[in-house]
Amino acid sequence: MTNSIFSPIIINGITFKNRIGVAPMTRMSAGDNSIPRKDVLDFLVARAKNDAGLVYNEAIVTDYESAQGYPGQARILNQDQVDAWKAVTDKIRSHGAVSVCQVFHCGRMAYEGINPANRVIGPSPIAPGQDNPLTQKPYPLPEQMSRFDMDHVIAGFVETAKGAMAAGFDGLELHCAHGYLLNQFLSAYSNQRTDDYGGTMENRYRFIHEVIAAVRPMIPSDRLLIVRVSNWGIADMDVSLFEDKAEWQQMIQLFSREPIDAISLSTYDFSAKAFGTDQNMTQITREATKLPILICGKIHDRKTADEAFQDADMVLAGKSMLLNPFWVPDLKAGKELKLYGSDEAGIAYTDTPLP
Ligand SMILES: Cc1cc2nc3c(=O)[nH]c(=O)nc-3n(C[C@H](O)[C@H](O)[C@H](O)COP(=O)(O)O)c2cc1C
Repeated sequence: MTNSIFSPIIINGITFKNRIGVAPMTRMSAGDNSIPRKDVLDFLVARAKNDAGLVYNEAIVTDYESAQGYPGQARILNQDQVDAWKAVTDKIRSHGAVSVCQVFHCGRMAYEGINPANRVIGPSPIAPGQDNPLTQKPYPLPEQMSRFDMDHVIAGFVETAKGAMAAGFDGLELHCAHGYLLNQFLSAYSNQRTDDYGGTMENRYRFIHEVIAAVRPMIPSDRLLIVRVSNWGIADMDVSLFEDKAEWQQMIQLFSREPIDAISLSTYDFSAKAFGTDQNMTQITREATKLPILICGKIHDRKTADEAFQDADMVLAGKSMLLNPFWVPDLKAGKELKLYGSDEAGIAYTDTPLP
């Protein structure tokens, strides 16, 4: 039987009832306790109840020092935070879905005062080119990370991984996409170090390797470790963060040597041809890895989901999952479905209840 987006898949012994997931979406709703608002947590459970096979939470920041980039972000670093998420993962599981916790450090995508320790750090002292839309001011110049900073950041990933596992997530995802810290190391656009962590792709990858080596032992062997990658960042969106197809594939090959279970690809548009070739990002990535690939970007109806699935193992949706609680049943019914715009997704950052 040919696989479809509705067939189950087993990855590292974990069964997904279908190939359709809720993409990670930051909601900026947490108070001083770094725990998201109840309706934000309920949203994840509701999508599991309505047949999503995989549910990602919002990106969790990894420390209290320099990881945060936006107000109201969540952490999983103390018992109260673990308890809050445990209630969510239990309910997601009871609806037959798999939960994965995305974790990240914002690096240079932070600003004065947003972190408790008031630090902005990055691989190199280079700020994003555009202004920060939140402050409408230039992003501050990040401090170049020292070895001490690097170890501290790794410790934050490790502690957060422990928290996520204690909270019952089926997997952890390292956010290596969208111009945040791990992606800042990978891309020569933001990493111009002259030590062992800059220069060649191998060198720029070295810090990510250290993070994976430290985090994997925290994840039981029957749970998942995934990485999310992209060729674009939230700031300076039009910049190609990797030079060409060869550089991208080299990075994917480096990831493929790691003890990880899947690669999640974030694109603006899954069907767009990439790096001046006639291939899309999934096809280019597929050539360089045997790992399962999750694809995201403008997948909004049955036709686009089926098309994206031709080259990938699972499909994720952001805005459609956010704004249409019945997106999976609607896909199944082959309903005509709209492509939501970013303006409509702005509701994610308000306290207006989602549909
Ligand atoms: C409100 C909102 C918040 C997002 N937050 C995150 C995030 O925390 N981590 C992440 O990797 N991507 C984040 N994204 C990107 C989505 O995961 C997804 O890649 C993007 O929306 C494109 O998919 P779509 O065309 O189906 O919406 C966010 C997107 C939206 C709309």
